[in-house]
Amino acid sequence: MPVLGFGTLIPDAAGTISGTRDALEAGFRHFDCAERYRNEREVGEAFKAAFAAGGIARKDLFVTTKLWNSNHRPERVAPAFEASLARLGLNDLDLYLIHTPFAFQPGDEQDPRDQNGNVIYDRGVTLLDTWRAMEDLVDRGRCRAIGLSDVSLKELAPIYESARIKPAVVQVESHPYLPETELLEFSKEKGIAFLAFAPLGHGMKPGPLEDPVITAIATRVGKTPAQVMLAWAIQRGTALLTTPRTPDRARENFNISAIPQDAMDQINGIQTRQRLNEVVKTGSPGFIPQGS
Ligand SMILES: NC(=O)c1ccc[n+]([C@@H]2O[C@H](COP(=O)([O-])OP(=O)(O)OC[C@H]3O[C@@H](n4cnc5c(N)ncnc54)[C@H](OP(=O)(O)O)[C@@H]3O)[C@@H](O)[C@H]2O)c1
Repeated sequence: MPVLGFGTLIPDAAGTISGTRDALEAGFRHFDCAERYRNEREVGEAFKAAFAAGGIARKDLFVTTKLWNSNHRPERVAPAFEASLARLGLNDLDLYLIHTPFAFQPGDEQDPRDQNGNVIYDRGVTLLDTWRAMEDLVDRGRCRAIGLSDVSLKELAPIYESARIKPAVVQVESHPYLPETELLEFSKEKGIAFLAFAPLGHGMKPGPLEDPVITAIATRVGKTPAQVMLAWAIQRGTALLTTPRTPDRARENFNISAIPQDAMDQINGIQTRQRLNEVVKTGSPGFIPQGS
């Protein structure tokens, strides 16, 4: 899996197509999608245009998508997987993730709510039940690897222990304000790739991109704050997902080179702690991009 990944959580159709195209042109080959983003079709359109233009083939790409909470019942997993593939216009997948450990009421409503506006959870299925259905997809050669997202060590460890096919990847929020060191150490020890989302702190301001430690290092080493944060993520042994939405930003975020060890130490010394995405607490997407 290429360590630098492009995330497709983009709220509008045109922006998804142009963002994916710009990412491909900048050099990104790892793409993170999800049925919940409701734009797999547009990502697929951008792939198709790139394949038709020549120079990029399916085998050059690493494509991930994710099973949504309302599809955790084992009998819903394969149909959800095949529907995602059809929307993406692909025949197979490199990586399929369980988007969150929360099972919602099974069905086509992605955000099932009761009359009081509360999410309706599904108590009739466990994460391990869903994992077994994910393992079947690998057995049948439909995807090369499976993993989890938005899990804590408390949820990851028992699945790891019980799994016949071990999780290959864990995708979680991580940046200098949320280093998730314990989960990272566990992942390294077990050979699980740690994939950081929000490596730029979702671009929120104020946020880690504006942290004085980051901006001072950027000035000193002649890189942008975003390039410093992405380099830090890679040098500490994580893969990452970022979502630049202009061609310039795509090139900036792809053009990453190492920062010195003293800069790593300074970033590791940042004491601010902040989780930006509440999805891990409820299973509901905690972050809606601006403009949506
Ligand atoms: N598993 C999950 O539950 C989950 C949750 C969230 C995200 N994700 C995945 O992770 C991907 C990454 O999303 P993210 O929002 O977390 O990514 P991010 O890269 O941390 O943040 C993206 C934001 O940063 C800004 N930005 C991008 N490049 C920049 C640069 N060079 N300088 C300054 N600002 C910059 C963008 O601003 P503009 O708006 O100006 O472009 C955008 O608002 C998503 O697309 C999705 O695939 C997964």
